[in-house]
Amino acid sequence: MGFPVMRVRERFPSLAVRDEGRERVYLDNPAGTQVPQTVVGAIGDYFLNHSSNSGGMFATSQATDRIAETAHEDMALFLGAASAREVVIGQSMTSLTFHLSRSICRDFQPGDEIVITRMEHEGNVGPWLEVAKEKGLRIIWVDFDRETWQVRPEDLAEVLSDRTRLVALNYASNMTGAINDVRTLAEVAHEADALVYVDAVQLAPHHLVDVQELGCDFLACSSYKFFGPHMGIVWGRETLLTELHPYKGRCVTDELPGRFEAGTPQYELLAGLSATVAWFEELGRMSGGTGSRRDLIAQAYAAAREHEEAMTLQLIAGLQALDGVTVYGITDPARVGERVPTVSFRHARVKPLEIATALGGQGIFVWHGHNYAWEPARALELPLDEGVVRIGLAQYNTTEEVTRVVDAVAAAIAGG
Ligand SMILES: Cc1ncc(COP(=O)(O)O)c(C=O)c1O
Repeated sequence: MGFPVMRVRERFPSLAVRDEGRERVYLDNPAGTQVPQTVVGAIGDYFLNHSSNSGGMFATSQATDRIAETAHEDMALFLGAASAREVVIGQSMTSLTFHLSRSICRDFQPGDEIVITRMEHEGNVGPWLEVAKEKGLRIIWVDFDRETWQVRPEDLAEVLSDRTRLVALNYASNMTGAINDVRTLAEVAHEADALVYVDAVQLAPHHLVDVQELGCDFLACSSYKFFGPHMGIVWGRETLLTELHPYKGRCVTDELPGRFEAGTPQYELLAGLSATVAWFEELGRMSGGTGSRRDLIAQAYAAAREHEEAMTLQLIAGLQALDGVTVYGITDPARVGERVPTVSFRHARVKPLEIATALGGQGIFVWHGHNYAWEPARALELPLDEGVVRIGLAQYNTTEEVTRVVDAVAAAIAGG
């Protein structure tokens, strides 16, 4: 059964929105995806029927408690976590990482080391740099390989020492799209007794996450990148989350995950988060899947992935056929499974801003700039004020849209 892309598109109302009669082509997905009607409905339903705060002895408050609990359970299922106690939900991946980094590094000593890869988005860099400054920790960088675009286990092993306390590791790059072999890298880090904090923000929209199989200690993602509301989620191993000092008010619960979720949560978005997980289950069924909820989610990813990989190959081939275009990332069709469908490129003469502006003017939404992939951009010696053009595909895009964007890039280059 082929991927039912047109049926998928019908579930996302914003895909049908037109600007003065013109269709929109959403290829800005790595910065945020569109959401299915069911997510919009769940958020609206919360405000219409359940809006309250937690812990009261009345209907709306009891519903609110149930919604918050269910969202944590659904995310535990989605990430393959052992329990909902391991799932901390907050404003964004970046804000959660700043918050948790303070707890994680609380007992680190001056001279202890944090290893950060050059593949990271700033969300998995800034928090560690700040805490390192405060506590006198050393930051050690590990580069990615220019041929594979991935961090090599042997390069990580080389920078580890008996002072390494934590490794900040990118799962999939928001610039090059390359996917790291996190399982092997986590094993290498653990041999040095270091904790592993994985940024799965760009992986989660495209591949099933299984935190237990990965063997990392923390894993962060953002639901607005996988068809949900603007929120961040961090999974942490229960033993660690229990031991860590939580920064919270005195009368806030000491139970997990509440001890790391001080303040009033965005309840309406938690309702939307459960609807997001339900969307993956529905997509699994639409793609012919059966079995448990987790089986359906896995089948949704498998079906979408095949569709996305075919479009990725079409996009890369189309861009590479244009004179003067350099794609930054894996281009070998045999290795398409080692990347997510985020394709960044530059042209020898026409600047990213000019190309993105030309495309935007035709209703084709793409990003330009460094996109907070500041370290990868610096590692590749790209002009930071220019960056790249980034085309990011998602499950609801079509081969026709890929043809359109390639043609539009060709025209922008010819006219630039
Ligand atoms: C790889 C990666 N990590 C982290 C982030 C930051 O996520 P958030 O906006 O939830 O803080 C992003 C956002 O684009 C990202 O692409």
